[in-house]
Amino acid sequence: MSDEKTEKAAEWTDLCALGDVPANGGGKFVGLKTAALAVFRLDAEKLQVLDDTCPHAGGSLASGYVSQGVVYCPWHAWPFKICSGECPDNPSIKVKVYPVRVVDGRVQAQV
Ligand code: FES
Repeated sequence: MSDEKTEKAAEWTDLCALGDVPANGGGKFVGLKTAALAVFRLDAEKLQVLDDTCPHAGGSLASGYVSQGVVYCPWHAWPFKICSGECPDNPSIKVKVYPVRVVDGRVQAQV
């Protein structure tokens, strides 16, 4: 007998086409009924999905400035490591990071 929680955690949600994610380090905003997400491409093979909403005051991280694996919120420049969601200035501040995969050219995440 399977655990219902485990099955739910294994569900993948279609977010966008891989080609919709900027190759230059910029973010792609994806709005779902249950979440606002930011998809980033760290390199050709490596994607990362974070909560889009900045915990400071709600800026959209998908439209932030990206440099050296860090996205800077467009409103007041709080930084977040794209790989972990941590704020390097204060590791107790963090945005959620979701498991991501690409299937047949579509980006999917466990949200
Ligand atoms: S809303 Fe993101 S730094 Fe202020």
